[in-house]
Amino acid sequence: MKMFTHAIVRPPPKTIIDGITNAKLGKPDYKTALRQHQNYVEALRACGLTVITLPAAEGVPDSCFVEDTALLTRRCAIIARLGAPSRQGEEVEVRELLRGYFNHIESIEAPGTVEPGDIMMVGNHFYIGLSDRTNDAGAHQLISLLEKYGSSGSTVEMSEMLHLKTGVSYLENNTLVACGEFLFKPAFANFDLIAIDPDEASAANCVWVNGTVIAPAGFAKSIAKIEAVGYPVIPVDVSEFQKLDGGLSCLSLRF
Ligand code: GLY
Repeated sequence: MKMFTHAIVRPPPKTIIDGITNAKLGKPDYKTALRQHQNYVEALRACGLTVITLPAAEGVPDSCFVEDTALLTRRCAIIARLGAPSRQGEEVEVRELLRGYFNHIESIEAPGTVEPGDIMMVGNHFYIGLSDRTNDAGAHQLISLLEKYGSSGSTVEMSEMLHLKTGVSYLENNTLVACGEFLFKPAFANFDLIAIDPDEASAANCVWVNGTVIAPAGFAKSIAKIEAVGYPVIPVDVSEFQKLDGGLSCLSLRF
């Protein structure tokens, strides 16, 4: 089981109101988003992580979703090529920062696109959702890079959600929380599934950090199900980020 020591975060910029959204929940409020982000950072610290904070990037409204800029594995960092054109470039400062932490840094190249919100780590294997943001070329480059460093990857077809981890998260001990289409994928048939009800779908995006689960606040049924399998849960309100289809896993890179 992997233990994490660090997390990289990037606070929301004031331009977060211009982030990519399906607009169902309205526009985020910057000050509330900033406060929620600070609480999220406190939750990461409570799980024992040293939190590294990049400066907010006003030119890229979605840049607080820093998880989408790189995949961090035990032996290498793989810099993403984001699928949303307005998000390309978010990875530049992350690459510079990672030079101080990783000896091996690889990159996804055009025409490949990968957003690591589409990548779920299960031990040394990485499930890669083929979404509107992560294409076949990107996924296959990623699998080759993973194999070069002794890991493995496989693709998962998907159609309902923004990112793979929008709807499924790995909580170690063979346990997945999942909702929607991910409840029925053959790739996940051998996991113990915690099924998230459709009215709490946002709770399917949560993160295991060193034995604790950080989960979005406001989803009591889902939190009770996660606690019932033995995990302490830290609920964090991420409502402003949910307005941009962003889950709480997307708000940090953990390694
Ligand atoms: N707003 C998050 C994303 O679209 O990637």
